[in-house]
Amino acid sequence: MAVVQEHEKKEILCKDWLSKPKKLLIDGKWVEAKSGKTFAVVNPATEEVLCHVAEGGKEDVDLAVKAARRAFEHGPWRTMAAYERARLMYKLADAIDAHADELAQLETMDNGKPIKESRGFDVVQTAETFRYYAGWCTKLEGETTNVNSNFFTYTLREPIGVVGQIIPWNFPMLMLAWKWGPALACGNTIVLKPAEQTPLTALRIGELAMEVGFPEGVINIITGFGADSAGEAISKHMDIDKVAFTGEDKTGKLIVQASTSNLKRVSLELGGKAPNIVFADADIDAAVRGAITGIFFNQGQVCCAGSRLFLEKPIHDEFMSKLTDRVNKIRQGNGLDENTGIGPQVSKEQQERVLKYIDIAKGEGAAVACGGLVPEDQKKGYFVRPTIFTGVHNQMRIAQEEVFGPVLAVIPFTDMESVAEQANATAFGLSGAVWTADVKKAHKFVSRIKAGTVWVNCYNVLDPAMPFGGYKTSGYGRELGKHSIELYSNIKSVWMNMMD
Ligand code: NAI
Ligand code: MG
Repeated sequence: MAVVQEHEKKEILCKDWLSKPKKLLIDGKWVEAKSGKTFAVVNPATEEVLCHVAEGGKEDVDLAVKAARRAFEHGPWRTMAAYERARLMYKLADAIDAHADELAQLETMDNGKPIKESRGFDVVQTAETFRYYAGWCTKLEGETTNVNSNFFTYTLREPIGVVGQIIPWNFPMLMLAWKWGPALACGNTIVLKPAEQTPLTALRIGELAMEVGFPEGVINIITGFGADSAGEAISKHMDIDKVAFTGEDKTGKLIVQASTSNLKRVSLELGGKAPNIVFADADIDAAVRGAITGIFFNQGQVCCAGSRLFLEKPIHDEFMSKLTDRVNKIRQGNGLDENTGIGPQVSKEQQERVLKYIDIAKGEGAAVACGGLVPEDQKKGYFVRPTIFTGVHNQMRIAQEEVFGPVLAVIPFTDMESVAEQANATAFGLSGAVWTADVKKAHKFVSRIKAGTVWVNCYNVLDPAMPFGGYKTSGYGRELGKHSIELYSNIKSVWMNMMD
C-alpha cells in the first residue's frame, strides 16, 4: 500500500480557484486572450498540471496599454488624493495578509518552494512591500529653489506614465510587489507580465486588487511568454514609458535593445555570482548556517545567492565537514510538507540546466563534496540534491556562470588581497558577503567589493526599505527603498517669470 505523504492530507485552499478559468486582467475585466490560446501551469514537485492560463500576445498587450494609458490620462488615479492612493495600497496589503495561507500554498504549488518560506518570507515581504510604498504616496515632494529673484522656480515630481513590468519565476509574488509598490505610489499605471512558469499568485493578487477597489485600467496583467510574445511586445511598445525587468542578463540585453523603439526608460535587475567569504577568525557555526541559507534558500534560484564560497585555508577542512554534515541532512520533497527544507527546481528546463552545470563542473575537475545528482527516492518532480563542489578555481565555468540552482562552488584563499580580487573577477556585481570578527577587515572588504549589496556576518537579509540592485552586468537602477521612487517618477522644472 502506498504511503500517504503529509502534503496529500492537506486541505488545498485554492482548489476551487484553480478549477476556474484563468484570464487576462485588462481594464478591470477578466478576458480571454484574443487568440483564444492557453498554456498549462505545472506543479514542479509532482509534474501535475495545476490549471491552464490565458496566453496573452501582442494584441492583448496593445489592449492593456490602451487601458493603462486611458487610466493614466483620464482616470481618477492621478487626480485622487495621495492618501486615497495609499489607502488602496494598504487595503491590498491587508487583503494579502487575510489570504496568506491560500497565497502561500498557491506559490508553493506553482514554484515548488517550501511552504514555510512561502508563508514566512514571500507573503510577509509582499504585504510589507505594499505597506512601505503606501507610505511613500504622501511623501513625494518637489523643491523650490532660489535661482534668480526674477523667477519663481520649483520642481514637481510626476509619475512617468504607463509602465511595463516583466518579472521572473523565482519569487513570483514578491517580484510583483517590488514592481507594483513604487509604480503605484508614484501614480503610474501598469501592464505586468508574470513569468510563464509561475503566473498564478499574480492572477490571485490581481483579483484582490480589483476587490479592494483599484480603478479599472490602473493594473493590467498579461500572462504569457517572453520572446516573440507578450514580453517582447511590452519591451518594444511605443506607448509604454518605462520597462522594468528582472531575469537573465541575456534577456536584459534584448530588453534594452527593444526599448530603443521609443527610448523608454529601463531598469534591470539581472543575475549574480556572489562571493561569500569566510575568514578564519569568523564564528564558524554562524558562517556555516549563512553559507547554507546563502546558496540553498529557494532551491538556489536566487539572483543574490552566495554561489561562490571562499574559505580561508586554515578553516577549510573543519568548515567543509560541518557544512556537508548539515547539507546531507536537508529534507527534500514536496514544498507543501511543513518539514521540507528544499523543494524541486521550478521547471524541467531549470532542472536540466542545473544538472548540465553539475556535469560541467565534474568535467572541469571539481570534486563533489555532497549531492551532485537527482535524489533516488524522488520518482516525480524536478529535484536536484543540494550540491557542493570543492577544489574549484575562480576561472572555472561553475565559478563564473549563473547556475541558478542548489550548487555551491568552494574556493580556498590565503589573504585579503587575493580574495578581494577573485571576488570581483566576475561579470556580475549584485551582492557579496564577508564573515569575520574583525571590524576593520569587514569595512575594508565592504569598500573593495563591487556589488550592490554586501552582507557582513549575515546573508540574504532583505527589507523593503533597503535598496537592492546591481553593479556591472547585474543591472541598472535600485529597487526598494526611496531609490525605487526615482525609477518611477519624472522631475519637471518650472520657471515662472516674476518680472514686472
Ligand atoms: P528570462 O530572463 O528569460 O525570463 C524572465 C522573464 O522575462 C519572464 O517573464 C520571461 O517571459 C520574460 N522574457 C523572456 N524573454 C524575453 C524577451 N525576449 N523579451 C521580453 N521578455 C522576455 O529567464 P529564464 O529563461 O526563465 O531563466 C534563465 C536563467 O535566467 C536562469 O537560469 C537564471 O540564471 C536567470 N534568471 C535570473 C533571475 C533573477 O532574479 N535575476 C530570475 C530568473 C532567471
Ligand atoms: Mg529565457
